[in-house]
Amino acid sequence: MNIILVGPPGSGKGTQAENIIKDYKVAHISPGDMLRKHKKDGTELGMKANEYMQKGELVPDEIVVKMIEQRISEDDCKGGFMLDGFPRSLSQAKALDEMLEKQNMEKPVIINIVVSEDELVDRLLKRGRADDNEETIKSRLKVFNGQTSPVIEYYSEKGSVHEINGVGSIEGIYAEIKKVLDNQ
Ligand code: AP5
Repeated sequence: MNIILVGPPGSGKGTQAENIIKDYKVAHISPGDMLRKHKKDGTELGMKANEYMQKGELVPDEIVVKMIEQRISEDDCKGGFMLDGFPRSLSQAKALDEMLEKQNMEKPVIINIVVSEDELVDRLLKRGRADDNEETIKSRLKVFNGQTSPVIEYYSEKGSVHEINGVGSIEGIYAEIKKVLDNQ
């Protein structure tokens, strides 16, 4: 099974991804984590990506799309993968369609985690990652509303998007996600 987790910053994609990989045999692909690892390792790609991440903007497609294409062609993705944070724009969604077709991979199940903006800001400020300051959070939410929301519409038009209420206990939210995945 291939899974896409969408949702605004702070909606719990990463948290629920950890739960999902314990129960389902899917490779976890998080572009945010991959880019942060590049930065930590001091690679050129990491330094370039960090300029955008600090501002809460999307890292250019020429970096991210190539990185994801390479990653999903690795052996551990053959049995299924879960994308957490990709696609985040219509151009990325279209690039993913092409990748899946080219590699003859199954259509993904789309899970959209919905949380109000006030709750998101509260969660992120409490967490305090390098990009969890008020200004960057504002910009990340703007990017989500402007560039990522159309991705949800795009998938809704093509088929079903499973909407999950992302407010409540982590276990309760996961139980709802599990219901969707067990039904596939
Ligand atoms: P990324 O790392 O993907 O960050 P994000 O989408 O902003 O998501 P977060 O990690 O902030 O939130 P999450 O939804 O995973 O929630 P989490 O589980 O952590 O991206 C960072 C940057 O990288 C982007 O801004 C961009 O620059 C770049 N990038 C990434 N992908 C890209 C792409 N495709 N194209 C271009 N650029 C890209 O939870 C958040 C907090 O809430 C945690 O503290 C958690 O403990 C808490 N929490 C979780 N669930 C609950 C709950 N139910 N109740 C209370 N608290 C909860």
